[in-house]
Amino acid sequence: METTIIKDLFRNTTNYENQEIKIEGWVRTVRDSKTFGFIELNDGSFFNNVQVVFNNNLSNFDEICKLTIGSSIAVTGKLIITPDAKQPFEIQATSVTVDNLSSQDYPLQKKRHTFEYLRTVAHLRPRTNTFNAIFRIRSVAAFAIHEYFQNNGYVYLNSPIITCADCEGSAEMFKLTTLDLDKPLPQKDGQTDFTQDIFGKKAFITGSGQLHGETFAHAFGKIYTFGPTLRSENSNTKTHANEFWMVEPEICFCDLEQLMDIEEDFLKYVVKVVLEKCPEELEFCDKFIENGLIEKLKKVCNSSFTRLDHKEAIDILKKADKEWEFQPEYGEDLAKEHEKYITEYFNGPVFVKNWPKDIKAFYMKLNPDEKTVAAVDLEVPGAGEIMGGSQREEDYDKLVNRMKELGIDTEELDWYLQLRKFGSTVHSGFGLGFERLLMYITGMQNIRDVIPFPRTPGNCDF
Ligand code: 4AD
Ligand code: MG
Repeated sequence: METTIIKDLFRNTTNYENQEIKIEGWVRTVRDSKTFGFIELNDGSFFNNVQVVFNNNLSNFDEICKLTIGSSIAVTGKLIITPDAKQPFEIQATSVTVDNLSSQDYPLQKKRHTFEYLRTVAHLRPRTNTFNAIFRIRSVAAFAIHEYFQNNGYVYLNSPIITCADCEGSAEMFKLTTLDLDKPLPQKDGQTDFTQDIFGKKAFITGSGQLHGETFAHAFGKIYTFGPTLRSENSNTKTHANEFWMVEPEICFCDLEQLMDIEEDFLKYVVKVVLEKCPEELEFCDKFIENGLIEKLKKVCNSSFTRLDHKEAIDILKKADKEWEFQPEYGEDLAKEHEKYITEYFNGPVFVKNWPKDIKAFYMKLNPDEKTVAAVDLEVPGAGEIMGGSQREEDYDKLVNRMKELGIDTEELDWYLQLRKFGSTVHSGFGLGFERLLMYITGMQNIRDVIPFPRTPGNCDF
């Protein structure tokens, strides 16, 4: 008999009413009395378990009663609708075959485990309700991201993982080499001689696909990337990982205001799709992870986001009746506590724009005041900065000057500078931290719990 997917049983229950079906999955719980028992079975296709009823007519009744949590089994039986019970239907088993009896020391027993403990069993945690919900939402959100851009005429670009281009600062990029690190490194002029390395020069793993994205945007009009991003920053926080996924759209003929319109529309789309496709998962998150989550997400879809200048944000922070750990200053970045205050002050996502140029990247468009750049960060309650973007400096001379001021190698980036000579455009783009978005959508408090196998300072297990 063909196996039926449990999700299908829940979504199209009446099609299966009184039918004989076969399901396969893993035991979540077993309860039995002398003559009958119940198995809660999950096959990973759906958030809810199926209740299987078995009785002592079955030849292997004793074997079934001894099933342990995590065992894999196949069940055939009849689907009976149960209007008066907690679950909408149950399967009355005609046979239960045990594929593998899970060992008694299975680490996921029927009790609530802490997230810290579950990180130590990252190979098993997707089997828990919480992580089942989180990673199903992750999958749905990833698809929604592609869908949004595909539906809106963007071309998907696979930007390189190996690069020599310095976008966000090479200090934060992992180096990549085939030089033998167990031997003394070849030297030239008192420095490592990378001409002997595989690419003949110093190479890195990408910390952003933006610069390559800009080249393709100048061919296709608008593009997006979506892929792994690596940063070597030694930041041990709840919102930083050394490997994370970033979405980076780049749009020609688009200024900062239009960019914010796109960011807002995009975020609302992804949230709306997750609300539609993951109702059970979000209900679970609302109940056990962040009370009021669904209300918050619905509000995001129906409100318009606040937009304010960095200067105005600092004004608000300075007026706040609060003891800061870091004093808010006009020329400086926003600390976590500032982001938190601002997002709570406006009770929703906030665009902070026009930042002091000295704390932002070289490629950002200089504003007429010559002190600020046309950059924008989208801040949300909890996850903080989820998107960082800007209008790009499209003027060749200004860009070269800025790179020289900052000591950036213009020769290595000659190909990038050429975009400003051959049909330069007003263009803009942003990067969305996918895990930070997931933290916001699920209410999870730690980035380590929304990425399958987190890589953070001191941790590269699994
Ligand atoms: O603000 P960032 O550094 O911007 C860029 O990389 C630009 N090149 C993007 C662009 O304009 N195309 O990073 C973008 C986003 C941040 O807003 C944050 O959400 C996320 O990437 N991010 C991280 N997420 C997890 N762990 C880290 N260490 C992160 N660093 C940045
Ligand atoms: Mg940023």
